[in-house]
Amino acid sequence: MITADPLELPGHGTPRRLRCRVLQSPLAGVSDRIFRGLVRRWAPDALLFTEMVNATSLELGHGLQKVEELSGEAGPIGVQLFDYRPAAMAEAAKRAEAAGAFLIDINMGCPVRKIARKGGGSGLILEPELAARIVETVAAAVQIPVTVKTRLGWCGASGGAVPARAITWCRQLEAAGAQLLTLHGRTREQGFQGRADWAAIAAVKAVIGIPLIANGDIQGPDDALRCLALTGADGVMVGRGTMGAPWLVGQIDAALRGQPVPPTPGPGERIALAAEQLCALVAARGDHGLLIARKHMGWTCQGFAGAPRLRHALMRAPSPAAAQLLLRQAAEGLQARSAAKCCKEALDET
Ligand SMILES: Cc1cc2nc3c(=O)[nH]c(=O)nc-3n(C[C@H](O)[C@H](O)[C@H](O)COP(=O)(O)O)c2cc1C
Repeated sequence: MITADPLELPGHGTPRRLRCRVLQSPLAGVSDRIFRGLVRRWAPDALLFTEMVNATSLELGHGLQKVEELSGEAGPIGVQLFDYRPAAMAEAAKRAEAAGAFLIDINMGCPVRKIARKGGGSGLILEPELAARIVETVAAAVQIPVTVKTRLGWCGASGGAVPARAITWCRQLEAAGAQLLTLHGRTREQGFQGRADWAAIAAVKAVIGIPLIANGDIQGPDDALRCLALTGADGVMVGRGTMGAPWLVGQIDAALRGQPVPPTPGPGERIALAAEQLCALVAARGDHGLLIARKHMGWTCQGFAGAPRLRHALMRAPSPAAAQLLLRQAAEGLQARSAAKCCKEALDET
């Protein structure tokens, strides 16, 4: 067991307590309300995040739903904002706070060229003074805690000058008023290449005074335990590993608490989850929900006989009803195969 103590974030009038040391990454195009609802089933106390939301778009009235749909969600949700305009960020943060955000996270790690070139996401690593001003302005606008999710730096790979630059950068964010940092152990230049540099995360953790969450390449409970042991971080954030595996945050949480790890759902449960997610997405988004559901179904329907064929068919299903039929047939096929296997075993024994 690592530690069961909650993490206390003072906020600016509204303190927050994090009871779970595993955080679900913000994932654009993935971590919507419906996905978060599934993650929550296994991890009721975990801090989950919205997809990143652009503050200027909110100002113009776009993407409001991503913030407004928080109300009614059972556990803590951080709203992740990105932009390079401090005033727009402050307004967006106020709106998110009013909608029930647990905290405001500022994205200073997104490598997407279109965003970074304008000075948002990882672009702020090149503009530390502007980054600090954004943190200060947002922190002054809300009472809940303000946190930052970032990378080790703009360029370079592991080793070299990266840890020293990461230390300077993270200290600047702490001095500006960030109350927690999530550090993805790669530079912007690395994108998602190579291994996340947990040793560099450890170097940052050793010198900053605010909680540090380690991020990058945590695919399961063993990775999380190794990462925490190596970095000394206060928690871990899990991203890609949860795509198609909404149970993963709960499994890691159990392992960190020294409790029995909930089993990974078997083929039948995965198909049922895919069908449920499809149904919810179509109910919320109409036929467009099928397009969003396709990628989730592709990730969830893995690791059982017939899964590749099922995925192939699901990607081409012309309507939600056709996709539901494919899932139903796959579930029936699994049941028939398992009944045949039972019969054979019973016959073999006699
Ligand atoms: C599809 C996808 C969408 C992402 N969207 C966001 C985002 O909106 N905000 C953010 O801070 N990071 C985003 N990330 C980065 C992840 O949150 C995370 O930092 C990164 O994937 C490394 O963690 P992992 O190795 O556990 O995946 C995204 C990553 C992927 C693969």
